[in-house]
Amino acid sequence: MSSDTSSASWGDGTRSVHAGEGPPVPGAPLRPSPVFAAPFHLGDRPPRAGGADAYARTEQPTLRVFEEAVGALDGGRCLSFATGMAAVSAVLLASARAGDRVVLPSDGYYATRVLAAEELERFGLRIEHVPTREIGDVAARGGLEGARLVLLETPSNPELDVCDIAAVARATRAAGALLAVDNTTATPLGQRPLDLGADLVVASDTKALTGHSDLLLGHVSTRDGELHARLKSWRDHTGGTPGPFEAWLGHRSMSTLDLRLTRQAANAAAVAELLAGHPAVHRVRWPWLAGDPSFELAARQMLRPGGVVSAELADEDAVARLLARTRIWAAATSFGGVHSTVDRRAQWGGDAVAPGFVRLSCGIEDTDDLVADLAAALGR
Ligand SMILES: Cc1ncc(COP(=O)(O)O)c(C=O)c1O
Repeated sequence: MSSDTSSASWGDGTRSVHAGEGPPVPGAPLRPSPVFAAPFHLGDRPPRAGGADAYARTEQPTLRVFEEAVGALDGGRCLSFATGMAAVSAVLLASARAGDRVVLPSDGYYATRVLAAEELERFGLRIEHVPTREIGDVAARGGLEGARLVLLETPSNPELDVCDIAAVARATRAAGALLAVDNTTATPLGQRPLDLGADLVVASDTKALTGHSDLLLGHVSTRDGELHARLKSWRDHTGGTPGPFEAWLGHRSMSTLDLRLTRQAANAAAVAELLAGHPAVHRVRWPWLAGDPSFELAARQMLRPGGVVSAELADEDAVARLLARTRIWAAATSFGGVHSTVDRRAQWGGDAVAPGFVRLSCGIEDTDDLVADLAAALGR
C-alpha cells in the first residue's frame, strides 16, 4: 500500500481520515500515538541540528502530524494554536503594525471585535468594521485602498451572512493588502478560502473541525512561505502552541468530520424547514434555505451546507420556554459539536441581535428525534 495524501480526487470522507498521512510504516500504528514531552534529549548536538526536536513550544511530532492533516484539507501550510482566538490574534498582530488600517467584519464573532477595541487599538492599529453583506460593495468601490489587512468571516457568526471571497480577494490584492478569512462556520470541507484567493485562512477548531465540545484549538493556514514563517515566529514567541494531547485528540476527532458534517447538515435542513413554517418563529437564517439572503452566493462559493441555523423567537421568555421544554437541545454556546445546542446570543452582549435571537447548532442525533423534540418545545 502506498500513500498519496495529495490526491485531490479523494472524497471528503477519505480526506478526513487520511489527510496529511505519510507512507505506512510496518509495525507502526495507523495514526502515530501522542508524544508527551516538553524538552527532548539534545544529545551532544547543538539544538535542532539534523531537524531533531528540542522543545515542544516550538516543535513537536504530534503537532506536526495534526498540522499536516489540517493543512492538507485547507490546501496550505497549517499552524495550530491553543484556541481560535489565539489564531485570530496571531493573524492580526503578526501581519499588521502601528498605524496600519485593518478591516474587520462588524457582524462576525464578537470576541474579535472586543480584541480589536480592547487590545489592538492600544497598539496603534486603525480598526474599521464593515458588515459581511457590504464588504463586496466596499471592495468594488475601491474602499480597501490603504488597508493592510482585511478579515472576512463567511458565513458570519451568528447571522450567517455570506460575502464573495474571490471578489474581495481580487480587490484586496489590487489594494496591496492581505486577505484573511475566518472559516470556522464552513470548515475546510465546506469552503476553501485559499483556493478563492485568500492569503490566510483562520479558524476556531474548537467548533466543527474537532466537533465533540471537549477541546479548544485553532489554526491558520497559508500558501505564502513568508507569512507562514512570520506566524510561526509569532507563535514561538507568544507561546500559543497547543500541547500534544490536544493535537492528537484534535486529529482523532477530525477523522469523522465528513460524517458529522453530513448528518449536521441534514438535521439543519429539517430544522430550518420546521422553523420557517412555524408561527412562533419570526425569522430563520440558513444559507441553504431557498430565499435566504445568502442562498445564491453560498451555493456558488461553498462546497456543502453547514449545521448552524439562526432564528428569532418573540423574546427572551419564548427562548426560556423552549429550553425548559426540550429534552434534547442543550442550552450552550459554541457550535459544530455532536450535541444539538441552542444559544440565545443577546445574553452575551456582543452581537447586535434581538433578545429572542437564537443560534441553533444541529448535532448528529437522529433527524426525526431532533425535529419532533424542537416542534414540541416550540409549542403551538
Ligand atoms: C467564527 C469564530 N472565530 C473564532 C472563534 C474563537 O474560537 P475559540 O473559542 O476557539 O477561541 C469563534 C468562537 O466561537 C468563532 O465562532
